[in-house]
Amino acid sequence: MIWLKNAWYVAGFKHELDGDNFVARRFLGTAVVMMRNSDGKVAALRDMCPHRLLPLSAGRRVGDELECGYHGMRFDVSGACTLAPGQTNIPKQACVKSFPLEEKHGLLWIWMGDAERADPELIPDIRWNDHPDWTPSRGYHHIKADFRLSVDNLMDLGHESWVHLRTIGQGEEEVIPNYPVKVSIEGEGLVRAHREMPNIEAPPFFAMVLNHEGRINRWQTAISLAPSICMTDFGVYPVGTSADGAYRSHVLHLLTPETETTTHYFWSVARNQRLDDEKLTEDICKAIAQTFDEDAVVLELQQKQVEAEGGPVPRLALRVDEAPIRARRVLDALIQKEKEDPDFVYRPQLMIEDVTPELAMS
Ligand SMILES: [Fe+2]
Repeated sequence: MIWLKNAWYVAGFKHELDGDNFVARRFLGTAVVMMRNSDGKVAALRDMCPHRLLPLSAGRRVGDELECGYHGMRFDVSGACTLAPGQTNIPKQACVKSFPLEEKHGLLWIWMGDAERADPELIPDIRWNDHPDWTPSRGYHHIKADFRLSVDNLMDLGHESWVHLRTIGQGEEEVIPNYPVKVSIEGEGLVRAHREMPNIEAPPFFAMVLNHEGRINRWQTAISLAPSICMTDFGVYPVGTSADGAYRSHVLHLLTPETETTTHYFWSVARNQRLDDEKLTEDICKAIAQTFDEDAVVLELQQKQVEAEGGPVPRLALRVDEAPIRARRVLDALIQKEKEDPDFVYRPQLMIEDVTPELAMS
């Protein structure tokens, strides 16, 4: 098992359930259909009719019920069958599993484990997606790779110098792995890796957001919060100016396993400057989509290789691997605890501490 079952996972953006539509998505190997009730509450059901297994999402919505498109059986949002056409009695087994679904900070959160343990208080506070002091640019990538390869990728930002030269990478003399990383572990599930890059050439993305062509100071902090949330906190400011005025971004990487070899990658890039600049919001969306396309190429090639050659990854460790290896160990330990102790529930660090790092650069 590569998943922690008893944990909240991001299931989508809140606005996806606007109106009377429904959204079908597979999480941790299980097909789910989500909708918003007429009373405004969100609900999630297993996306499978208990009769002949057709996905309910292949049918239609009738009021607050889903109707199977094969024989017209209807189910309410608790999963109870309300109609079995052609008969008055409803078979006892005619019910669909429901999953706890919550909304927080503009996101939908689903609990695929033991429903009785689904405590909404355990949803991490990642408020930057939905906060008046920050403006988000949001998007989604479907990645044909194990989500752990994405976590590896996001905890090792050294790869930017090769994968992202056209967007956020530092080339030639200033390759990112030349700047050392300080790694720390907080609580049971959080790994933080911080790096400073003083007086560097501005890669294209940073020249755009800063509206500045000269040399810059840059920091990047990669955070992984088990089981599958990462955040990149980066700051950039022109050399000779103060870090207090830095353009700063919290990049939320919300990685939810779809299957063992595919991942839903919801992302939200929140910035602290030029908050009302809608063109910038769109330009960031485009640039970040391009950046994550670049990652997807690498991740999907890696996945194919793992399937053909077998794991583990990495087969040898470089200095840049310290944070990703620690993040994998943290997750493995939680999965092991869940396996060994039936009463164990992971209590994630709820607040990702939002501190401006103490910088040596000026
Ligand atoms: Fe990347």
